[in-house]
Amino acid sequence: MKGSNAKDILVNNSNKEMSEMQTKNQVEDSIIQESLLTCIDLANSDLHQSALLLKKACLDSGFFYVINHGISKEVTDKAFEQSKKFFALPSEEKMKVLKNEKHRGYTPLYDQIPDPENQVQGDHKEGYYIGSEVPRDDPQWDRPFYGLNTWPNPDVLPGWRETMEEYHQEALRVCKAIAKLLALSLDLDADYFDSPEMLGKPISTLRLLHYEGISDPSKGIYGTGAHSDYGMITLLATDGVMGLQICKDRNAKLQKWEYVSSIEGAIVVNLGDMMERWSNGLFRSTLHRVILNGQSRYSIPFFVEPNHDCIIECLPTCQSENNLPKYPAIKCSAYLTQRYEESHLKFSSYKKTNLS
Ligand code: OGA
Ligand code: NI
Repeated sequence: MKGSNAKDILVNNSNKEMSEMQTKNQVEDSIIQESLLTCIDLANSDLHQSALLLKKACLDSGFFYVINHGISKEVTDKAFEQSKKFFALPSEEKMKVLKNEKHRGYTPLYDQIPDPENQVQGDHKEGYYIGSEVPRDDPQWDRPFYGLNTWPNPDVLPGWRETMEEYHQEALRVCKAIAKLLALSLDLDADYFDSPEMLGKPISTLRLLHYEGISDPSKGIYGTGAHSDYGMITLLATDGVMGLQICKDRNAKLQKWEYVSSIEGAIVVNLGDMMERWSNGLFRSTLHRVILNGQSRYSIPFFVEPNHDCIIECLPTCQSENNLPKYPAIKCSAYLTQRYEESHLKFSSYKKTNLS
């Protein structure tokens, strides 16, 4: 994987005269620069020091890097290699493992439209969802976000399933280490989130993504439209091709987008909306999007949400008489179902739409 050169990605057209005809999106583009994010060393034995650093990052943007996370380059490279092999298959082969009702499998181009107000069509990406495997003899196996995965034919892609299962397992381990630091940074016991009731049976989803094309925000065309993630923690590994941008102040009149560059060996991490709700809005779930420059781009996000039945409600350390809970309590699975339905095409509509 290649790292990026900061000089290549600094775009500064701020002297450009702004005509009245310029759209809001064009204005956004005139101020894009690179974001400098905090780096958390997961091998640091001083957990309290790491938690302090993490707290600062979570108050600021909820985006940070982790290093020394223990996922080897070999495991990551193998996952990217196998992901590329899958997306290179003929469309008819990919359509055999089309996403099912349990959100497992292939999602074709334009399947998702996270920001319909500003997007004229769905995201310019195809994907593949791999969720938490819960075996049939488990009493909860039929819950919407548990169950069995769907896999490409092993004769077509030998070793594919094993590669993805290994990455999935490793990524979950990293998220649990981050969850410990998050708990400490919120003045909770280190195991508060990493407990049987919360992350005992997490809804953890590995997603392979393949982007193609050129984005044009002024025309409403994006790799991924602006959104915040739904869950608790997202890990993001990329192939080094630039594209991810964050907007720290979503309510600003003039939204300012900053590039997040890839750093060799580091994983980008961001907090999702559940973490923002848990922390009563203290920790940030920041708006982000992907802008493409014509190069194909591969990324592997890994989303972690707590157990299906976990109730997300204001944490005891994030409320007081003067700071009452701002969000109603919600059940993890109900919240996720709602967010998936809002941003994805319905399963039944795949076959009616020409999406090859
Ligand atoms: C996502 C996401 C960014 C990327 O899948 O939620 O924000 O770089 N992905 O692929
Ligand atoms: Ni995202």
